[in-house]
Amino acid sequence: MHAVREWLRDASSIAVLTGAGVSAESGVPTFRGGTPGTPGLWKQHRAEELATPGAFARDPKLVWEWYDWRRSLIAEAKPNPGHYALAAAEARARKFTLITQNVDGLHELAGSRNVLRLHGSIWMLRCLECECEREDRRTPLPEIPPRCECGGMLRPGVVWFGEALPAKIWQEAEKAAREADLFLLIGTSAVVYPAAGLAPIAKSSGARVVEINIAETGLSDSIDEFLQGPSGELLPQLIA
Ligand code: OAD
Repeated sequence: MHAVREWLRDASSIAVLTGAGVSAESGVPTFRGGTPGTPGLWKQHRAEELATPGAFARDPKLVWEWYDWRRSLIAEAKPNPGHYALAAAEARARKFTLITQNVDGLHELAGSRNVLRLHGSIWMLRCLECECEREDRRTPLPEIPPRCECGGMLRPGVVWFGEALPAKIWQEAEKAAREADLFLLIGTSAVVYPAAGLAPIAKSSGARVVEINIAETGLSDSIDEFLQGPSGELLPQLIA
């Protein structure tokens, strides 16, 4: 912990990758469990069975019910001390890029500014016909699946398994990882690529990599420091 505090203070460029674990203490369930009370399953479906173009094509109502449920939880959620600590770290840092796989917008609510959202936003809806995009924060949605004025079906504005990440955002994330001298990997199971590849990119470009998680991941053995515990408790201690 002490060494990491020094690395944070001395770093000239910090990049952070967050996953669902940072929002767990805000009451947003993670995808793969690991949090008491949030088994990572919804009606016995795994995320990989719902967050795909194929699942949506087969059963848009089921997929939308899942997203409507997550939207209603996120609408009630507030940033936790971990989100606020990251915003405070950004305010103090010379260069700071927060890369997130989360679609809940809680980092921005906590005051983070330089945020790269790899997986989109749960509040954005995109029409499958005319491809227009709009923000819609209503929960529950009045109609499921929701429809565009053009009559087309709307889908969640998030990235699904098997879909490409937004190219420009990914390029910026890769660049931030390459240029960082300190990389923090927080609350992610690090199994979903390409996001999970960012820590190895940072490491091989010379950065120190620190992981914060309640449990070890497949990357824990190849990093500089593993801090075990909830990010909502450890981050404020690190960034006091
Ligand atoms: P996961 O649900 O796969 O992993 C959550 C991680 O957070 C696990 O490693 C937990 O041990 C850890 N964790 C839980 N509570 C924590 C806490 N309080 N403090 C610190 N760590 C905690 O979530 P992601 O890694 O974000 O993608 O999943 C990646 C992607 O898979 C998501 O963006 C989503 C999902 O399916 C798509 O929908 C495309």
